[in-house]
Amino acid sequence: MLRNCGRKLLLSLVGATLTCLLVLMVDQQTKQLVELPAEAEDSQRQLQAEPSPVKAVQDASVKGAQTFSAYINKLTRVRRDVEQVGTPSLEGSKPPVEDIAADDVFIAVKTTKKFHRSRMDLLMDTWISRNKEQTYIFTDGEDEELQQKTENVISTNCSAAHSRQALSCKMAVEYDKFIESNKKWFCHVDDDNYVNVKTLIKLLSRYSHTNDIYIGKPSLDRPIQATERISESKMRPVNFWFATGGAGFCISRGLALKMSPWASGGHFMNTAEKIRLPDDCTIGYIIESVLGVKLIRNNLFHSHLENLHQVPQSEIHNQVTLSYGMFENKRNAILMKGAFSVEEDPSRFRSIPRPKFPRYPKGYVGPVRVTLDVNVADF
Ligand SMILES: *[C@@H]1O[C@H](CO)[C@@H](O)[C@H](O)[C@H]1NC(C)=O
Repeated sequence: MLRNCGRKLLLSLVGATLTCLLVLMVDQQTKQLVELPAEAEDSQRQLQAEPSPVKAVQDASVKGAQTFSAYINKLTRVRRDVEQVGTPSLEGSKPPVEDIAADDVFIAVKTTKKFHRSRMDLLMDTWISRNKEQTYIFTDGEDEELQQKTENVISTNCSAAHSRQALSCKMAVEYDKFIESNKKWFCHVDDDNYVNVKTLIKLLSRYSHTNDIYIGKPSLDRPIQATERISESKMRPVNFWFATGGAGFCISRGLALKMSPWASGGHFMNTAEKIRLPDDCTIGYIIESVLGVKLIRNNLFHSHLENLHQVPQSEIHNQVTLSYGMFENKRNAILMKGAFSVEEDPSRFRSIPRPKFPRYPKGYVGPVRVTLDVNVADF
């Protein structure tokens, strides 16, 4: 009996030692990841010799709107070193696993009243006009002119500030509206994105909407490192990949439903507060860190944080999203020869030819007249 006890004691001692060693090893590893633990941000700042986008993000989360642009600038800087803009088309890749239609996709466009004329009108005149039923515009101010163009304008009642809180507030409403819609896929884009809906559908049909799918393109070349608040006084480091909101990303319904405890109702705002990061990072946090689902990287999503000149004109229709804006103080847009000059159409979105759909056979000249020879008496 006693010997048995002794053996047990010995075994647990060995176990405890091993656990200790493991904890130490993990601790050593995580130490390298910890960039900004706990509350004392000012002293932490001194510890941080090398500037990193993570710190910028942390700063942004502390100071809000002002430093948010610093975060974007840092992302831009990092972006330069990241992989080249890959532009593989979907042809020859995975075969489709699910037959989906445009109606199965919920496309959320995030905007703010200030950009209704300068940005939304352009999108309304181009890709949204052809995809009105599945495109929902999330904004923060009433606008008759926009509402006349589409029924799907959702007033989020969120602040118009470009702050972390305001952005998270809109993402929370997007999420709730998607869940309500019962559609199979949630896709988020910004008001400077062009979406090739046909290519998007082709991409999503390669996955099952009941599986856990999170697809998009990261703008950092490594996982983001953040701290997670686990109680009033306790923080712990976390690192995860996230798809940049500026390039657009999609989430399957199966995964979105699992996100509910952290994303639905007011929970998204609480989660965002817990890690104090912008909305797209919070999405990545819930999916990768909380649920343990990995981001599927896809190079067909494009934000203005990459050099858009690198997307070949012949491949434009094979991209899922495009963007425009400024990149290293230069105008950044796709190269597209078309009916409009760069002055008339700086984004080049108006110059993208309408996708040819449906494709008519060679020699097709117009609608076919079908004469039905039916006897009315048959009915
Ligand atoms: C915004 O507020 C209005 C008026 O109170 C309300 O009808 C609407 O449902 C709110 N929108 C959201 C998304 O909660």
